[in-house]
Amino acid sequence: MRNDNDSWDIKTSVGATALFVAAARGLAARDPQALAVDRFAEVFCRAAGDEWAALFAADAEQTKNHPLRAPGFGPLFQNFQAARTRYFDDYLRSAADAGVRQVVIVAAGLDSRAYRLAWPDGTVVYELDRSQVLDFKREVLADAGARATAERHEVAVDLRDDWASALRENGFDPSVPTAWLVEGLVIYLTPDAQSQLFETLNALSAPGSWLGIEEMATIDSGVYAAMTTPSTDPDSYDQGRGAQWAGLIYNEGKTQAVQWFLPHGWSGAATGLVDYLASLGRAVPAGKGPVGHFDPSLMSLATIRK
Ligand SMILES: C[S@@+](CC[C@H](N)C(=O)[O-])C[C@H]1O[C@@H](n2cnc3c(N)ncnc32)[C@H](O)[C@@H]1O
Repeated sequence: MRNDNDSWDIKTSVGATALFVAAARGLAARDPQALAVDRFAEVFCRAAGDEWAALFAADAEQTKNHPLRAPGFGPLFQNFQAARTRYFDDYLRSAADAGVRQVVIVAAGLDSRAYRLAWPDGTVVYELDRSQVLDFKREVLADAGARATAERHEVAVDLRDDWASALRENGFDPSVPTAWLVEGLVIYLTPDAQSQLFETLNALSAPGSWLGIEEMATIDSGVYAAMTTPSTDPDSYDQGRGAQWAGLIYNEGKTQAVQWFLPHGWSGAATGLVDYLASLGRAVPAGKGPVGHFDPSLMSLATIRK
């Protein structure tokens, strides 16, 4: 369970969710028809060791019960991660094409876009996350000899605190347009922390700014209660992890970004994940509800502009 001051590193609590999505991206990248290829995702997992490295080992036997290998959940979640990578890669390229040169990746985790995308000259990318997560990322990428493709600044913050001051102190300029990326974050914020985040994004956004955000709609309360109860099946792929994950999220009381930002003078729309997957030729089987602990029909990806 969460509390207002909880903390984590890359292998614990909310930090491990960054490894989980990176592992899904790394596995998805092995598909010859991959929707997106994040070549650093596997590098992070190998460096993390344990189950994360084992997922990429030739001997798949040791991870046969890992949720990312579960037939119902694994391929769907990998597709989801690859699709969301593609959506936000395209989003950032569009913002760059429109002339935006200041990018802020909020809750960057193991996002490798500052090393992966072909940024126009003069682009500055700020990455916000907890210090231990950023430390892990920096050390792994340095060991791998990776070079950033934009001017990159790490900003170690807790997004429940006053992170705007830290961002400004690192050189962020609120007078020029920004492309914000908020991917895989807001489910881990309380409704108040999310409102504060939206207020701050709006206040720091000059006209011409962009926001790309991934969100999950509220899970039915009965379903959520079941999700937080660990499976008692010893052969379950889940191994209690779905319940652990459900315990990290704040399920109720959130306003979707489009509903919040449009009355504040922004324009844009959200795309449902199922529709987006279908547009990429990766249809989710009709009528598919929660799969393991993931219901794709609740997920959406939005692009909003000021
Ligand atoms: C699921 S990961 C997503 C990482 C990345 N955006 C991606 O999609 O690969 C969630 C990230 O949010 C970060 N995070 C969650 N709550 C945070 C907070 N209060 N302050 C700073 N970082 C936070 C975690 O450290 C983690 O890196």
